[in-house]
Amino acid sequence: MAEMKQAPAGAGAGEKLLTWVDNRFPATKLWNEHVGEYYAPKNFNFWYFFGSLALLVLVIQIVTGIFLVMNYKPDAELAFASVEYIMRDVPWGWLIRYMHSTGASAFFVVVYLHMYRGLIYGSYRTPRELVWIFGCLIFLALMAEAFMGYLLPWGQMSYWGAQVIINLFAAIPFVGPDLAILIRGDYVVGDATLNRFFSLHVIAVPLVLLGLVVAHIIALHEVGSNNPDGVEIKAKKDANGKPLDGIPFHPYYSVHDLLGVGGFLIVFTAVIFFMPEFGGYFLEYNNFIPADPFKTPPHIAPVWYFTPFYSMLRATTDLMVNVLAIIIALGAVLNLVKGKGDGKAKVAGLVIAAVVIGLLKTFEAKFWGVAVMGGAVVILAGLPWFDKSPVKSIRYRPGWHKIVYAVFVVNFVILGYLGVQPPSPTGELVSQVGTLLYFGFFVLMPWWSQLGTFKTVPERVTFTPH
Ligand code: HEM
Repeated sequence: MAEMKQAPAGAGAGEKLLTWVDNRFPATKLWNEHVGEYYAPKNFNFWYFFGSLALLVLVIQIVTGIFLVMNYKPDAELAFASVEYIMRDVPWGWLIRYMHSTGASAFFVVVYLHMYRGLIYGSYRTPRELVWIFGCLIFLALMAEAFMGYLLPWGQMSYWGAQVIINLFAAIPFVGPDLAILIRGDYVVGDATLNRFFSLHVIAVPLVLLGLVVAHIIALHEVGSNNPDGVEIKAKKDANGKPLDGIPFHPYYSVHDLLGVGGFLIVFTAVIFFMPEFGGYFLEYNNFIPADPFKTPPHIAPVWYFTPFYSMLRATTDLMVNVLAIIIALGAVLNLVKGKGDGKAKVAGLVIAAVVIGLLKTFEAKFWGVAVMGGAVVILAGLPWFDKSPVKSIRYRPGWHKIVYAVFVVNFVILGYLGVQPPSPTGELVSQVGTLLYFGFFVLMPWWSQLGTFKTVPERVTFTPH
């Protein structure tokens, strides 16, 4: 047993209590490791607000969720009316519900910006690969959480959105039809689906999310934060072993983050009080109509945060599959003629390409659409290995790299816009090009990320006091 510490003579009741606790639970140690003596780079900027904001939204969602569950009824006969009851009769119910529905969209806004920060400053690179991978898993869990939550109000969009997405799983070869029944618990979306989505949305996925967020932060604190310069502050320490360019998280960043919280709350409350539906983007108009299994709405679109991926799904037609097959064949031939590997590797490349093309032509395009949609999320996890640039931060990359990132972002937004629109021939073509650009960005990254003239990365972070 570790030796018991004694509170110094004349210590107050608070200090004595803390010493008593510290002898039994590492309260002070944890505080110091993660807050009081966690040294973060002193040059954090605007983009570093979004991690703490994601934590704030997570708390908002959990707290408002707990209060919603008190009056919500997970029953196909009662669910829609129970939400209306919350909105009209439960004291402050409207506020709790709007906080939760707006919180869902806010979560994605904040997390997309948080991911964008990671992308431009190379925060996913050694030694932060696991921070990034936990982040990708969080993103997946968040998507599952939002999808299942959307079914609960049991409106037309809840019902038909779930119907469309679950039917996609049926396109998976061999196991698909059984898998779709397993997810629904029935042959169509119904009461059983609502019950299991409720259970998963309220307890299972939030538990996973919380666990992943804890892992995300532990992993980050193990290696330390990156910063806008991409300079490792641990490389230059003072006589006490503290990073020269680091400042303790508390009070510097705890106070700094409060500024972000203030800004966020102004926007968040403005949306809640003045435009909770946000023009039909946060709460779709069709979802104010109770679910009717006999009446399909004319246009079914997922909520905005899924639409870039939904566009890629819709883009994957037979034509697109053929284009993919041609690209893979060309890639294999190029590798054969110009590749760096030995003869064996080149032949292996040809065989793999032939197998992939065979598979592409064996299964229907709908399945490949699902694979493309899932692959678009999964591919993010490969970033730490795709990026071969000699520098981390965008600040020290060749100017044209910025254009590549800008094209990637604009393309993602266009895909998102097209995903909300009803299908059209032009939209389909644009989203096909967009899908190729999206995947091209990642697949070709090992090549393009090394090209160009890089600027010299400074030894210390750049910082002007303000
Ligand atoms: C519930 C969702 C999330 C929460 C609560 C969360 C929380 C945090 C916090 C508090 C930090 C430290 C503060 C900061 O650097 O901003 C952080 C850093 C980081 N997060 Fe997240 N995060 C979430 C989702 C994600 C996702 C989806 C990704 C990427 C796929 C990601 C990637 C990263 C990276 C790479 C860092 C290190 C950044 C750096 O040091 O420059 N996070 N996260």
